[in-house]
Amino acid sequence: MNHKPLGPTAVELPEIGLGTWDYRAGPDVLRAGLDAGALFVDTAESYGSEPVVADALRGLRQRVFLATKASRHHLDAAGVRAAAERSLRQLRTGWIDLYQIHEPNPAVPVEETLDAMERLVDAGLVRFIGVSNFTVPELERARMAMSKHPIVSNQVRYNLADRSIEDGLLSYCQAHQITVIAYSPLGRELPRLLDCDPRGLLASAARETGKSIPQVALNWCLYHDGVVTIPKGNSAEHLLDNCGASGWRLSPDQFRQLEEGILFRRRNMLDSMLRRYIPGWVAPFLKTCVRRLPPALRRHVN
Ligand SMILES: NC(=O)c1ccc[n+]([C@@H]2O[C@H](COP(=O)([O-])OP(=O)(O)OC[C@H]3O[C@@H](n4cnc5c(N)ncnc54)[C@H](OP(=O)(O)O)[C@@H]3O)[C@@H](O)[C@H]2O)c1
Repeated sequence: MNHKPLGPTAVELPEIGLGTWDYRAGPDVLRAGLDAGALFVDTAESYGSEPVVADALRGLRQRVFLATKASRHHLDAAGVRAAAERSLRQLRTGWIDLYQIHEPNPAVPVEETLDAMERLVDAGLVRFIGVSNFTVPELERARMAMSKHPIVSNQVRYNLADRSIEDGLLSYCQAHQITVIAYSPLGRELPRLLDCDPRGLLASAARETGKSIPQVALNWCLYHDGVVTIPKGNSAEHLLDNCGASGWRLSPDQFRQLEEGILFRRRNMLDSMLRRYIPGWVAPFLKTCVRRLPPALRRHVN
C-alpha cells in the first residue's frame, strides 16, 4: 500500500482507506481490508457504523488512522464537544485521528465550530482537524479561523465521472497542503461510472494493466497529487480488490485517455447547493428514480 502525506503533518496516510457509509458487512470484512494494508477508516456519527468500526479495530487501534465527522446539526460549540464525546464512546477509543466537519452549516459560524475542534485537539481527544464538502471560499474562511492547528484535509466527491473539484478546489487544496480525501471514488455505484464510458476505456485500461476496472478507476484518482480515496465495499472480495488499486500507476498515456474519453461532468453552484439541502429522507427515492433512467440520461444526474 502506498502512502501520501496528510496535509502539512508528518503522518503518512494509506492512499486507499475504508469508507463505511451504508456499510452492512460486519467487522470481519473491514478487518480483511485492514489486514490488506488499508489502515485508514472513514466513518461519521451519522453513518451508524462507528460501533462496527470499533469491533474491527479491536487490538489494532494504534496502527489505524481513524477519521470520523460531526454532523451539520452539531456544529455549535457545545454540539461539537458532545458529538465528539459520543463518537469516542461509540468507537471505544481515547482519541480520534481526524475529526471532520461533515458539511458546512451556514446557521453556525464556522469559527465557533473550529474553535471547539481546536479545544478537542488541545485536550488530546483529537489529533487533526479536517472538513468535508467545503468550497474554496468556505475553506479560506476556515483556514483564517484556525488559531493553532491547520486544516489538514477536505473530504469531497471525486471520481472519473464527477470532476467538479477540478474547477479550482483541487488546485487550491494542493497549493495549501490540504489532503483531498476523495469520496464516492467509484461513482457511488460502479454501473454509474460505466454509464460514462461508452467507448469501454476503463475495460481497455484494465486489460492493458492486468488490473480490474475498479482498480483502474481508483488509480486514476490517486494519480493526482495530494489525493487519497476511501471506497466502500461490503465484501472482503471488493475491499481486497480496492486495495490492489495502490502500489502501481497508470501510464501517462492511459491516464490521458481516461481523462479525455470518459464523459464527466462538473457540477455548477446551483446543482451543488440543491444536493446539499435535499432532505435525507428524499435521497433513497431519488436514487431509485435515477437507477431507472436510461444510461445516457442517467450520467447527467450522477
Ligand atoms: N463526506 C461525505 O459527505 C461523504 C459522502 C458520501 C460518501 N462518503 C464516504 O466515502 C465512502 C465511499 O463512497 P460511496 O460509498 O458513496 O461510494 P463508492 O465507494 O464510490 O462506491 C461504493 C459502491 O461500489 C461498490 N464496490 C466497491 N468496491 C467494488 C469493487 N472492487 N468491485 C465492484 N464494486 C465495488 C460497492 O458495492 P458493495 O457495497 O456491494 O461492496 C458500492 O455499491 C463512503 O462509504 C463514506 O465513507 C462521504
